[in-house]
Amino acid sequence: GTITFTEYDGTSHEVEFADGESLMELATSNGVPGIDGDCGGEASCGTCHVIVDDAWIAATGPRSDEESQMIEMSPECAPNSRLACQLKACAGLDGLKVRLPEFQM
Ligand code: FES
Repeated sequence: GTITFTEYDGTSHEVEFADGESLMELATSNGVPGIDGDCGGEASCGTCHVIVDDAWIAATGPRSDEESQMIEMSPECAPNSRLACQLKACAGLDGLKVRLPEFQM
């Protein structure tokens, strides 16, 4: 399956995923700029913020409380903001589109 990351400037990166890989791991291993993943996926750094495409909100499900707390502290906080490290790629997310916030350019 594939997931598409779109940078704030509009540059898109379509990357292949293996089931169970987090979107943060996927972005960093494929050189998508703007996702740093400083905490290694612990939902504690906020450097992997992505905004889920409206069409995919139901498929990606709700944020955890821990995730919401981190997102609420970030410079941009959309209702569909997520931490990419907390989203696991799976068949149900094949074709998922996410974009990156301006502060992660
Ligand atoms: Fe640190 Fe996601 S990698 S919050």
